[in-house]
Amino acid sequence: MRKPFVAGNWKMNTDSQSSVDLAGRVGSGSSGVAGQTVDVAVCPPFVYLQSVVRAVAVSSVAVGAQDIYFEAKGAFTGEISASMLKDIGCTYVLCGHSERRHVIGETDDLINKKVIAAISGGLLPILCVGELQSEREAGLTNEVVTRHVKNGLSDLGREKASAVTIAYEPVWAIGTGLTATPEQAQEVHAFIRGLLAEMYDADLAAETRILYGGSVKPGNAAELMAREDIDGLLVGGASLKADDFLAIVQAAA
Ligand code: PGA
Repeated sequence: MRKPFVAGNWKMNTDSQSSVDLAGRVGSGSSGVAGQTVDVAVCPPFVYLQSVVRAVAVSSVAVGAQDIYFEAKGAFTGEISASMLKDIGCTYVLCGHSERRHVIGETDDLINKKVIAAISGGLLPILCVGELQSEREAGLTNEVVTRHVKNGLSDLGREKASAVTIAYEPVWAIGTGLTATPEQAQEVHAFIRGLLAEMYDADLAAETRILYGGSVKPGNAAELMAREDIDGLLVGGASLKADDFLAIVQAAA
């Protein structure tokens, strides 16, 4: 019912040559599964989006951006709109990644505007949510995730909300080598699905894909994917190595 989805977040890595090489290897290495038993996307830095779109054009790998700005056009120096991303062939966009929340300082309100702008511009947003280590230790995980999900989807009617993928990424597990256990992840994923049922309805909750992210590797992908409410994986570090990323794609397929 929910097709698995694996997305690679390259963050601020690669260069013009390595981005095209990596994209090409992901495209050829995932043929036979990408777009069939698993949806696959790569999210390179803005400047390499167009060449990566070309590099995966012969495959079923989709391309996503790591961020957008919510205005359609105008005097917003340095920003990129949904229509620009759509124009060059992007399908997805990450909204509210924890590095943007905690390093750049994005607020729930800004992230909500980005989610709305992405959908209006024809992109599929991946709304990232998740607690800090201190918040988990203080027993605030559900509270933080509730705030991120409710505020991130604020003012989104059912139809638009159905375009959203959620990515649960506990901040303490991102880039640290500390993966949430499959039990910890499943617990939060089930909680988020319950939240969606409360906010919308059971059908929307059952159809929405909820990805896990945070130190996903070839060695832990299968056990995470085996959990009922884990529908896919958002992969950072391991998405920069074609062999590792493809092994994760295979584990999800
Ligand atoms: P990681 O990053 O896999 O390197 O932990 C995940 C992410 O930030 O999306």
